[in-house]
Amino acid sequence: MYDVLKVRNDFPMIQTLKERHMIYLDSAATSFKPQCVIDKVNEYYTKENANIHRGDYDLSFEVSDEYENARKTCAKFLNAKKWEEIVFTNGASSALNLVAYGYGQKFLKEGDVILSTEAEHASNILPWFKVSEVTGAKIEYIALNHDGTFDIESFKKAMHEGVKVVTLAHVSNVLGYIMPIKEITKIAHEYGAVVVVDGAQSVPHLKTDVCDLDMDFLCFSSHKMLGPSGVGVLYGKYELLDQMDPFMLGGGSNARFDICGNILLKNPPFKFEAGTPCVEGVLGFKRALEYLMDLGMDNVQKYGHELHAYFMERMKELDNVEVYNPHAQTSIVTFNVKNIFAQDVAAYLNKMGIACRSGNHCAKILLNVIGASETIRASVYLYNTKEEIDYLIETLKGVTLEKCIGASL
Ligand code: ALA
Repeated sequence: MYDVLKVRNDFPMIQTLKERHMIYLDSAATSFKPQCVIDKVNEYYTKENANIHRGDYDLSFEVSDEYENARKTCAKFLNAKKWEEIVFTNGASSALNLVAYGYGQKFLKEGDVILSTEAEHASNILPWFKVSEVTGAKIEYIALNHDGTFDIESFKKAMHEGVKVVTLAHVSNVLGYIMPIKEITKIAHEYGAVVVVDGAQSVPHLKTDVCDLDMDFLCFSSHKMLGPSGVGVLYGKYELLDQMDPFMLGGGSNARFDICGNILLKNPPFKFEAGTPCVEGVLGFKRALEYLMDLGMDNVQKYGHELHAYFMERMKELDNVEVYNPHAQTSIVTFNVKNIFAQDVAAYLNKMGIACRSGNHCAKILLNVIGASETIRASVYLYNTKEEIDYLIETLKGVTLEKCIGASL
């Protein structure tokens, strides 16, 4: 049985919120960290501080083992076949860029097609614009419905022999819809295309089994799922990682090089991890994964869906509000107060002690679909409560243009 009050006790920021008379509805931007994650980062600096894979002494051997155990924990969390399929990066954006550069720029050619959607975050479309510029491959978009929902029939229509890469978010960071990834990968693979999944907003909330979903690549961040900032993951099927080029070259990623410029790279994942990584972040991320596995991702997902459904239901009481993603299943509610600019509403909510995000949320071409360039996004996670949602609803009931403009001044 999921006990949110018990969970809240694990997060020092919840106490900080009480002291600041605030509620936090911006976990899609970044999540809070439980005490065990904070302790682990602190422990690294106080008791384990050494570089990994580079020292001939016990301290370095021990922390190297812990770092590699984090990779194994992550493989277990995703049900990956091998720990070698987990590459640590410094965030979801760098993982997505690594795929675009290392796979897209290497294998795509003029006339090939990269298929995506207009709902993508900048980090999952700008790298592909660059691939298009460098290789001559074209970007095509799967037609979304007017409310931004995805229809598998539109995907089938958009697929053709020229499509070599399908790249999309499992959960959009603006709309919160869950894409039917299993059906998508099945169809894409029938055409020989690889599927790149931006999991930044899905992996924290949904039980993710990369084998069952048959994803070729999955990219996500630690900081959105209770872990430290500065750490991301690229999961890739081993044979694809093996063919790919690294994005960066340097120490730790090569087995040898010589004066003539010959470089022998290590095998995946090490060939992608040049330079000293964010060691403390990866160790903290391991704790975050263990914390989530202790809670049970089934429970996290179930609680997330319940809380979100409650949120959507209560939003229906507000006739001064337009919700853009009424069919979303998880974490995110995106809306505007009618006739008031989103940033002004956010300023008022801030004044009332409510943290949420406003603007275009880095998905700048989505406005073509939903017809609004600026929105307010409230997002919930495993430590949020129904009472916090109630407070937002009551605050929105009392919102006026004057109050919002007053708060912006
Ligand atoms: N990508 C994060 C968001 O959507 C920062 O807010």
